[in-house]
Amino acid sequence: MNDHEVAVLDYGSQYTQLIVRRVRELGFMAHLYPPDELASLNNPGAIILSGGPRSTSEADAPDVDFDRLRSFGVPVLGVCYGMQLLNIKHGGTVKPGVTREYGPARLVVQNAATLFEGISHESQIWMSHSDTVSDLNDGVSVIATNEDAVPVALQFGERCWGIQFHPEVTHSHEGTQILKNFLTRSGAQLARFDIQAFKARLLDQIREEVAGREVVCGVSGGVDSTVLAVLLHRAGVKVRCIYIDTGLMRKNETAEVIEQFQEVGVPIEVVNASAVFLGKLAGVSDPEEKRKIIGVEFIEQFWKVADKVELLAQGTLYPDVIESASSGSIASKIKTHHNRVDRILELKKEGKVLEPLAELFKDEVRELGASLGIPHRALWRHPFPGPGLAVRVPGAITEEKLAITREADAIFINELRRSGWYERVWQAYAALLPVKTVGVKGDERSYEQAVSLRAVVSEDAMTADWVELPYEVLRSASNKILNGVKGINRVLYDISTKPPASIEWE
Ligand code: XMP
Repeated sequence: MNDHEVAVLDYGSQYTQLIVRRVRELGFMAHLYPPDELASLNNPGAIILSGGPRSTSEADAPDVDFDRLRSFGVPVLGVCYGMQLLNIKHGGTVKPGVTREYGPARLVVQNAATLFEGISHESQIWMSHSDTVSDLNDGVSVIATNEDAVPVALQFGERCWGIQFHPEVTHSHEGTQILKNFLTRSGAQLARFDIQAFKARLLDQIREEVAGREVVCGVSGGVDSTVLAVLLHRAGVKVRCIYIDTGLMRKNETAEVIEQFQEVGVPIEVVNASAVFLGKLAGVSDPEEKRKIIGVEFIEQFWKVADKVELLAQGTLYPDVIESASSGSIASKIKTHHNRVDRILELKKEGKVLEPLAELFKDEVRELGASLGIPHRALWRHPFPGPGLAVRVPGAITEEKLAITREADAIFINELRRSGWYERVWQAYAALLPVKTVGVKGDERSYEQAVSLRAVVSEDAMTADWVELPYEVLRSASNKILNGVKGINRVLYDISTKPPASIEWE
C-alpha cells in the first residue's frame, strides 16, 4: 500500500470497486482491502468501509477491528453496511428494515458542515439495504434524513461519518461531491493519484523489476496488451511482442494490428498459424470442444515462439486482481478457459511474471495509453474474444463461413463508425447463423445463410443489454450486407439481454 492512500474495506457490495474508482477520479490514490487486512494496513490517509449484502444482526456478520480502526487517527466514512457497523461500534443499534429499500430516495440535509458542504438541501440518493440504524448513542448526531425523516447520515465523531446510501453511483446525484467533501474537508492527508506521475513511477519500477532480462508479451491489438507493450518499450527494456494470427481474426485485423504497432514504433513478431488452427477445427462443431482446441493450440504456438522466457509480461488489470481474490467469480472462470494457466502459474512461482497494469482500471489504462501516445482508435477498440470468430460462427468452421462473417461484420462495424455509434457500444459484431433460409434474387429463389447483428452495452461484460440502434443504421447495414455479401439473404438484429443470453453466440 502507498502511504496516505485511501483504504477501502470491502464488505462485499457490488459497488465497492466504484468507490475506489471515484476516489481516484477525484485525484487521490485508493485500493481495496478485505476487512481483516485492516491489521496490516500501514499509514492510510483515510478509511472507507463499503456497503455489503449482509446484515449486522447475523451471527457471523463481517466485523471491523474498531480499536485498530481508531488507532490510525484518520477520517473514516462508513457506507451502508459500513455505517451500520460504525453505529454499533459507537454504542448504537441497528434494526431490520420493514421493507428492503432499493433505488432512489431523497437526501434531506440537516447539518451541512463538512460532509454536505455545498450540497443541495434536498437531492436524489441511491439506496440498497434492508437494515436501518435505530438507537444512537450520545454524541452521535443525525446530519441528514430521507423524506420520511429516517436518518441516512450520521456523524459519529469529529472525523467519522456514516451514510446509508451509495455516493459512488451516478444515481446519487451529488454523491461525488459528498465523497470529495469527505476527502478534502475532513483534514485527511492524502496521496495524490494522477496518471502522469503514476506513469513515471511505473516506468522506473519496470526498469528495476526487469533488471536487464528479456521480457516476452503476447499482443492481440486490444487495449490492455497494446498499452502494456508500448509501456515496456518506453521503459527501454528488451521486449519481444508476439502476435498469433489464429485465422479466426476479423477482416484485415492482422494488417491493422501490424499498422497500429508500427504507428507507435513498437516491433511485433507475427506468427501466422491460421492453417494449423483451421486444420484442427475442421469438422468440430461442439462449442466447448472448439474453445478447447483453440486454447490449447494458442498455448502451443505461443510457447513455441516464446521458448525460454526470462520474464513474461501480462496485461492483468486491477479488477482481475480483485476478482481472482474472491474465488469462484464468473470473471475468473471466463479468463481461465483462454489462458496459458499452468505455465504461467509456474512462472509466477519463480517470480518471472510482470504485471505492470495490475493497479489500474480499464479507463485508467486508456488514460495511460493516451499519455504514451497510443492513437485514440486503438484505445477504444471493442473487446474481441480470444477464440475470435469461432464463437461467432456456430457449428463447424470453414474458410467460406469465416469469409462471409468477416464481410458482414466489417460492413456493420463500418456503419457504426460512420453513424457515431461505435464508441457508444461495448461490443458489436455479426454472427453467421447455421441455417439456410429461402429468399429471392432476381427471378430466382435463393437458399442462403442468415447473419445476426449484435450490439450491446455493458459495464464489465457480466451483464449486457442490447442497444436500441436507430432504424436507419440497421437498415443501412442490412442493405449493404444483403447487396454486398455473397451467400447471405437475411439479416437479423439480436435483442437478447445477458442474462439469459451471453454476449457471444458460443
Ligand atoms: P460472453 O459471451 O460470455 O462474453 O457473454 C463476455 C465477454 O467475454 C468475451 N469472451 C471471451 N474473451 N476468451 C476471451 O478472451 C473467451 O473465450 C471469451 N469468451 C467470451 C466476450 O467477447 C465478451 O466481451
